[in-house]
Amino acid sequence: MKRILENIIEDCRKWTSKGEVASYIPELAKANPEALGIWVTNLGGEEYFAGDWDIKFTIQSMSKVITLMLAILDNGTEYVFTKVGMEPTESGFNSITNLETHEQKQPLNPMINAGAIATVSLINGETADEKINRILNFTRKITGNDEIGINYNVYESEKKTGNRNRALAYYMKGNGIIEGDVEEILDVYFKACSMEITCKDIARIGAMLANDGVLINNERVISREACRIVKTIMVTCGMYDASGKFAVHIGIPAKSGVGGGIMAAVPRRMGIGVVGPALDAQGNSIGGIKILEKLSHELDLSIF
Ligand code: DON
Repeated sequence: MKRILENIIEDCRKWTSKGEVASYIPELAKANPEALGIWVTNLGGEEYFAGDWDIKFTIQSMSKVITLMLAILDNGTEYVFTKVGMEPTESGFNSITNLETHEQKQPLNPMINAGAIATVSLINGETADEKINRILNFTRKITGNDEIGINYNVYESEKKTGNRNRALAYYMKGNGIIEGDVEEILDVYFKACSMEITCKDIARIGAMLANDGVLINNERVISREACRIVKTIMVTCGMYDASGKFAVHIGIPAKSGVGGGIMAAVPRRMGIGVVGPALDAQGNSIGGIKILEKLSHELDLSIF
């Protein structure tokens, strides 16, 4: 397995030069576009890795999986999906279009920015600090990594430049989709996106999802049913407007982030974390997608 991963990383390196690191959040532009790494955690607890698996980067939109799970734990699926839909979109991840056209004015799904801001607004906690601490502790528990914290440079950079997110949030507040203090909700969302992780951490989250909501140590984190819903939404919406193509070519529930990470969950087999900060036009890691494509073919991982 180690050799397979090493060969795949080598094969995929050429792709990194065809993408670009995210720059709309200025701090992310500092990432190394050539980095490429992978970590695999199988359900027997065995772990394999190759390439730049140890670089730290921010979780970005992969936090949307975590905040969806926490919103479900706090409110139940029925309530959460009165505030956010479960339909894929052909618009970009920070599009405002569907908030206007959708009948109930809900964000289309919890994997786009508007949807995640709505799920964050549903997370329990008296204060913004309490909410982000619950998100951090939940992430630490699933990854088994107590060291996970926030990259404050990225957080400040997002807060300063996140005007599209601010627009989405105020629009949703105006339509009664979110309640409470909009700036406080955005602050929790920006901090959740700025959690600093490695491929290993996202592979561990993928492994829990692959294991129907149960950690390697047999502790249940979310119900089997909630886990099924989360994975289904990852298949249909996790790679944004590239989700269809990803399902056809790779066929694994996955979620990307503009930090260059992709978290993948192969049901009943393994969790996979990849990193490659150079992104394609949809904001997904260009090298990361190639790695997952090769690995899916090599190990026959497609769920379809
Ligand atoms: O809100 C944003 O724009 C970022 N914090 C997260 C976007 C993101 O990761 C999109 N993913 N591919």
